Amino acid sequence: MRKMWRTYRNVLNSYPDATLSEKLLIITRFLELPVRDIDRWIGENDTIMELGCGRGVLANILVALSPGRSVYGVDLSAGRIARALTSLKENSRIEFHVANVVDPSLYHLQQKFDIVLVSELLCLLSPGDQETVLKKASDILIPGGRLIIKDYVTRPRYKYFLFWLETNFLHYVVNWTGRIAVKLGKLGRHLQKIQTMFGVRDAVTVLSRENISALLIEKGWSVLSSTLPSKGFWPHCLLVCERSGADRTEEK
Ligand SMILES: C[S@@+](CC[C@H](N)C(=O)[O-])C[C@H]1O[C@@H](n2cnc3c(N)ncnc32)[C@H](O)[C@@H]1O
Repeated sequence: MRKMWRTYRNVLNSYPDATLSEKLLIITRFLELPVRDIDRWIGENDTIMELGCGRGVLANILVALSPGRSVYGVDLSAGRIARALTSLKENSRIEFHVANVVDPSLYHLQQKFDIVLVSELLCLLSPGDQETVLKKASDILIPGGRLIIKDYVTRPRYKYFLFWLETNFLHYVVNWTGRIAVKLGKLGRHLQKIQTMFGVRDAVTVLSRENISALLIEKGWSVLSSTLPSKGFWPHCLLVCERSGADRTEEK
């Protein structure tokens, strides 16, 4: 527990220029992400490709937990990558690049990785793009490498309901207040800051765990483990896969 808090403090300190709203976002990442569950599947010296790394918080956490790891993170948003880059120290074992995860050239990298990590990205992609990512991910894995997927699913029901409320209902309320805010001058700018602080999510499509597993198997993956980590308010699902072989799914 102490190690985790020390890690969190270090990672927060890696973003010295973060605004209050960004700090809140980083803290909510700490509180929400099932980091321990993800960490246990990654070796101490593993190389990791993180697809959709955002501001690099998860990449920084994983390297802070095991400094022998290295991460190559990519994200579509130049703004988030710019923020992620500010977190890097000299001789850092982390790299961040702007890239679209459906761009085929991303999968022609010379370097191969022990782990491809896809955290909270699938739910943002169209079905066609999800298929592309799941198909191409094995091209950048070493033989025996693992694909780790952390996403939102439709179970347990009460968590899914809370998540649905946040992503749909709040999305509209906050958008609406944002539009009014534009007309309110200075007060409006404060309202907009609060709006950003609570982060309006992009549109998400939540699949069931069974659907994600079926998609993985269809794309040639064996699901080694499929769990619903209980951390936080949201309905997390963590799937760990290897390129097809025997299906030894451990379901909890
Ligand atoms: C919810 S964030 C997850 C960040 C990080 N993986 C984590 O778990 O903390 C999802 C990220 O995926 C990125 N993203 C969405 N579509 C993408 C695409 N086609 N290519 C690359 N990144 C994408 C978004 O810009 C966003 O930063």
